[in-house]
Amino acid sequence: MQRLMNKFKNRMRAMTEILEGPTAIATGVDRLTNGQLVAFPTETVYGLGADALDGHAVAKVFALKGRPATNPLIVHVSGIQMAKTVVAQWTQEAELIAKAYWPGPVTLVLTKADCVPGIVCANGDTVAVRCPAHPCALALIEAFGKPIVGPSANPSGRISPTTPEHVADGFGDVDLIVIDGGHCRAGIESTVVDLAGDISKVLRPGIVGAHAIGETLGKSVECVTQQAEDSVARSPGVVGAHYQPRTPTKLASTGLLASASESVVLLAWSTDVHPSGGTLISMPQDLGQYASMLYRALHQGDKASQDSIWIEEPAIGSTAQDQAIRAAIIERLDRAAHG
Ligand code: TXA
Ligand code: MG
Repeated sequence: MQRLMNKFKNRMRAMTEILEGPTAIATGVDRLTNGQLVAFPTETVYGLGADALDGHAVAKVFALKGRPATNPLIVHVSGIQMAKTVVAQWTQEAELIAKAYWPGPVTLVLTKADCVPGIVCANGDTVAVRCPAHPCALALIEAFGKPIVGPSANPSGRISPTTPEHVADGFGDVDLIVIDGGHCRAGIESTVVDLAGDISKVLRPGIVGAHAIGETLGKSVECVTQQAEDSVARSPGVVGAHYQPRTPTKLASTGLLASASESVVLLAWSTDVHPSGGTLISMPQDLGQYASMLYRALHQGDKASQDSIWIEEPAIGSTAQDQAIRAAIIERLDRAAHG
């Protein structure tokens, strides 16, 4: 009898399931239609999806992530046409950026349309919209036929997921499916561009830099993440500790790495780092590849369960594009090491 009961309990226990191919998309659509959550791959990181127009479904995203209700979500669309349905006004600047970078890692903040529930936008009057460049994400949104919210699919404040296994490990046994789209090639989150105010600005740096956005708009565009007060008001998710491994993490100069003890995990890109002890994770010197690998390395470093993780600051880039990627990486590293 007891064995039977245990078997029943095990069957009832929720499980995170990783699914592939057309079945995964069909199951995903079914779940979204029933107000449930679906984790899906994008080119940046995995997102935790729900029907963006269903406030009850969106509330489950906040609950599972443990995300403060004051931090708004990104709405994922299949293209410009769908984007227009969630904003009050599709501006000329939005058209220019979307034509240049969508599908791709750029999110646009615009005045919201009435159909978007307040919970998505933390009850503000703007909405963040993005069209992801991943065939699975696009197939899911297109088959569902409606926009999907998608914060990164990790518990709030922790390392973002770039593989389906990261998502499953992060949430444990919960009633969730993860659509397997392999490793996310860009590896860090999209650039968030605020087009809703008087002055267009980048709120979160990404692979596409402020200089490139400025070139597309034909004017100078600044990245304002350093201006904490403004950032709090405009984009709550870009301040303070975030992207954090459980293991205490710090940025280290190349010189310091050699002194690492047995219990340190090192993320180093210099070829001349030969630590006397510890675990070495070699990082690429190319900054695009570094970004692509960053979260995977942090997850791996965290799993090693050592006393600390030391990260060698990435090399200075020579081109404007490299400098933009480096700034985006440094923003993640600073916050992974925060406090
Ligand atoms: O690459 C990405 O953007 C990934 C993939 C899954 O698309 N998503 C992602 O979502 O990074 P999340 O929730 O982890 O980060 C969204 C960021 C936060 O910093 C949030 O504060 C900001 O976008 N954001 C969302 N809506 C906003 C709004 N209406 N105004 C200003 N900032 C907003
Ligand atoms: Mg996130």
